[in-house]
Amino acid sequence: MTLIDIKKLNEVGWVEIEKSFDNGELLSLASSFGTVLAHPNQQLIDILTPKDRNKAQFGTLSFKYEYGKFPLHSDTAFWVRPSKYVILANSIENKTATTIFNIRQAVARLDFHRKEILKRSVYLVKTKNTSFYSSLMSYFNGEFLFRYDPMCMRPFNAISNKAEAIINEIFSQSTPMEITWQKPKVLIFNNWICLHGRNPIDDPNRILKRIYIK
Ligand SMILES: [Fe+2]
Repeated sequence: MTLIDIKKLNEVGWVEIEKSFDNGELLSLASSFGTVLAHPNQQLIDILTPKDRNKAQFGTLSFKYEYGKFPLHSDTAFWVRPSKYVILANSIENKTATTIFNIRQAVARLDFHRKEILKRSVYLVKTKNTSFYSSLMSYFNGEFLFRYDPMCMRPFNAISNKAEAIINEIFSQSTPMEITWQKPKVLIFNNWICLHGRNPIDDPNRILKRIYIK
């Protein structure tokens, strides 16, 4: 059994394992540190492939950006409690990196005033099936939880427009890490403290598997 460095996962924000995992091994790895949650399409292992607008679901990043760069975001921001961990894995090499950024560390460097703006921001989280209000930044059972996905979240109160400006300032001053997929690999990241994205697609045959963990 592969042991995950949970301390690193919850501090740095992600762990990479350079090894090929079959589906059973991926689910066993995921179950070893949490409860596996089904994707909204009911699959425990979701298959990610680049799509153009005609094949993508409305409201998704693929629908908006197609083969272009995906901006930094949280996965499952439309869940009241977003998936805490996400596993991405490849078995076939591809040249398009996943980008990842520890937003908790960036927030920690902000002054008190800016942190308060992020905490007091109210966003409307809306998809075709759900709608609720949420802050960008909160604590769940004492754990930092940052939720950000412009595809399903809109600034709702006056202060959230200031929060948007702070987020854009953080992004403009930061360079996310690039996780490459040129070897078989598993990436596990903490979706509450990291945002992630994707570089523009080089190879339309890019396939990644994804698992959500509570
Ligand atoms: Fe994502």
